[in-house]
Amino acid sequence: MAEVIDGKSVAEDVVSKVKALTAELSAKGATRPGLAVVIVGEDPASQVYVASKSRTAKECGFHSLQHTLPAETSEEQLLKIIGDLNADPSIHGILVQLPLPGHIDAGKVIQTIAPEKDVDGFHFINVGKLGTGELESAFVPCTPAGSMLLIQRVRGKDLSGLNAVVVGRSNIVGKPMANLLLAANCTVTIAHSRTKDLPALARTADILVAAVGRPEMIKGDWVKPGATVIDVGINRIPAPEKGEGKSRLVGDVVYAEAAGVAGAITPVPGGVGPMTIAMLMANTVASAYRAAGLKRPSF
Ligand SMILES: NC(=O)c1ccc[n+]([C@@H]2O[C@H](COP(=O)([O-])OP(=O)(O)OC[C@H]3O[C@@H](n4cnc5c(N)ncnc54)[C@H](OP(=O)(O)O)[C@@H]3O)[C@@H](O)[C@H]2O)c1
Repeated sequence: MAEVIDGKSVAEDVVSKVKALTAELSAKGATRPGLAVVIVGEDPASQVYVASKSRTAKECGFHSLQHTLPAETSEEQLLKIIGDLNADPSIHGILVQLPLPGHIDAGKVIQTIAPEKDVDGFHFINVGKLGTGELESAFVPCTPAGSMLLIQRVRGKDLSGLNAVVVGRSNIVGKPMANLLLAANCTVTIAHSRTKDLPALARTADILVAAVGRPEMIKGDWVKPGATVIDVGINRIPAPEKGEGKSRLVGDVVYAEAAGVAGAITPVPGGVGPMTIAMLMANTVASAYRAAGLKRPSF
């Protein structure tokens, strides 16, 4: 059976390190890390994510600011708030929770965030730095950055000679994940909905990352024996066995099948999921170190 990669425990290690770095920063007399989270509208899933981000920020000892704006907030009002946060020296990270209401241009909003405060790593400057291998100064999107830490726990930092297949090409997960694997010397293939014979391609992967958003699409016989399988997917499906109207979370991989073949695998929940918020904290503390003129810590 595969080793189960415990994302919850790795995320706790990251948060502990962030707390220690925050305390060190205060001891040096520098401004403590400040994270501003902006949410527009009442999407219940977004409200849960934002509450959890603000809670973890406080737990880390950060100055935590939350702007909860009504759904009818105009684009102009939102851009003004971002401009003010860009200019606020007590804020080192700005996160705008997506999706935004349809009347607001999300791309324009993201590109308005100062690149040095873009802890989500979505600004073109940070995307470009990751694409050109400037990892020392880039902010890398939190989910792929967290997935990479999990891969390194199993495989080490240098992945030379390994074949990686990333299923999914989104700007938030698939593409940055592929760039991180490339920077670590993997031979990388990105698969998507137009890829031919995905099962055969997946079977070539020493590292298989699933970021599709389709419940249990990747079967056990798509997995190469001994492979490291990172399941980014979070899908809620009906679970009548738990009672009427009940549901449960599954990944993009059939866990029970893949765990019999893989060398190591992330569970859903408890794998990649907890890493996202932890890496947001890591990016924010890194931003505060840089603002204080100190060497940026690595994770
Ligand atoms: N914190 C976390 O753990 C976290 C964070 C972010 C996302 N997620 C989860 O990760 C999953 C992916 O998220 P995302 O934002 O990257 O999704 P997305 O933007 O919808 O992208 C999905 C990708 O999967 C590809 N795809 C769809 N059907 C496919 C098929 N049958 N065969 C091969 N590829 C297929 C799509 O290909 P095309 O480009 O050709 O359409 C697309 O590139 C979702 O389940 C999401 O909930 C988790």
